[in-house]
Amino acid sequence: MQIIENFSLQEYNTFGIQAYAKFFAQAGTTDELLYISQQTGMFKKPHLVLGGGSNILFTKDFDGTIIKISMRGMEVVDESASNVYLNVNAGENWDDLVEYCVQQSWGGLENLSLIPGQTGSSPIQNIGAYGVELKDHFHSLEALHKQSGQKKTFTAQECKFGYRDSFFKREGRDQYIILSVTFILDKEPAINTSYAALAAELQKGGITQPDIHDIREAVIRIRRSKLPDPVAIGNAGSFFKNPVINTEQYKRLSEAFPDVVSYPDKNGIKIAAGWLIERSGLKGYRLGDAGVHEKQALVLVNYGNAKGSDIVKLAEMIRCSVMENFGVGLEAEVNIV
Ligand code: FAD
Ligand code: EPU
Repeated sequence: MQIIENFSLQEYNTFGIQAYAKFFAQAGTTDELLYISQQTGMFKKPHLVLGGGSNILFTKDFDGTIIKISMRGMEVVDESASNVYLNVNAGENWDDLVEYCVQQSWGGLENLSLIPGQTGSSPIQNIGAYGVELKDHFHSLEALHKQSGQKKTFTAQECKFGYRDSFFKREGRDQYIILSVTFILDKEPAINTSYAALAAELQKGGITQPDIHDIREAVIRIRRSKLPDPVAIGNAGSFFKNPVINTEQYKRLSEAFPDVVSYPDKNGIKIAAGWLIERSGLKGYRLGDAGVHEKQALVLVNYGNAKGSDIVKLAEMIRCSVMENFGVGLEAEVNIV
């Protein structure tokens, strides 16, 4: 295990932004993590915990230690007649996990196919796609409390999951390192085709009674058709969250724009931010090498040499334009560092 100085982060963030970390280390085990933190006194100085770098935008060099989480391995820790409890270490690639579960015919995670990143990051924003959120199949997680060095187990309730939200983005922000996550998987999978685009994709393929393999394949096809592959074009998925507005605001918006795309939400009405951006005339817009993806306006992209600050400038422009046109505020989903 090495602590490397002046380390390029370009390959470690899916935006492909060039930025340098003063120090960089990878932790392959919890012991290594503790060793690195003791060697560098890292937790008392500026530091950043990095997973797959698929939800992060570096706007400058990082003047501290970046610790890349690389703990691998998973095991079935319990089983009942209907469920499997699978504990997965934080450094496991998310989609490898989903693929493995589908191969085992354990249901639950298949709608979350092809989301980039690592398992340890998945509870931070309660990843979600195609009608399912992580919280729906989450049992518990184990995290290291940085200040005390103690491990703590969090239940779903303690994680306070919400839409792209959890305890770890609020009160618990920067206080814990997630070491492993335990999932509850179904031996007799319940198929979820509630997301309209998924139902349409299955129908297009003539699949009337999908199993979890069909769901995974359909989700992968939809994602490949509209989301840019970070290997080809730098991006971090949706740059903004879909805003949730109250009924009064929605009434005004839908009267002015009857075709606004919206969904019911437990906190109000969720508006498709991609629609707001597209209808602001910004789909495909470019500001140098920073751009709005031409197939999905919610995704900002790096066409090659954009700096983090160029992406931020574009995001600001979008935010102002959407506010001016629709009176709706957009909040970044991506972590801006
Ligand atoms: P990173 O970007 O490395 O880190 C994200 C945050 O978590 C940072 O604040 C980091 O400090 C913190 N962190 C990372 N690991 C740990 C840990 N072990 N302990 C404590 N803190 C930690 N997201 C969705 O929800 N749904 C989607 O459909 C979706 N689609 C995407 C499509 C594309 C093409 C891309 C590029 C991204 C997409 N995302 C999506 C966003 C992203 O994949 C998820 O947010 C993912 O969970 C981020 O994982 P990561 O390991 O890359 O995290
Ligand atoms: N739309 C447009 N123009 C666009 C994009 C979208 O009008 O350019 C409208 C369309 O009506 C479309 C609707 O918005 O039907 C929804 O689009 P899509 O199904 O692509 O989903 P999204 O709301 O844009 C969210 C998540 C994605 C997730 C998909 C599928 C957020 C912020 N984003 O996107 O997550 O994969 O749903 O569930 O909630 C991510 O978080 O990084 C991410 C990619």
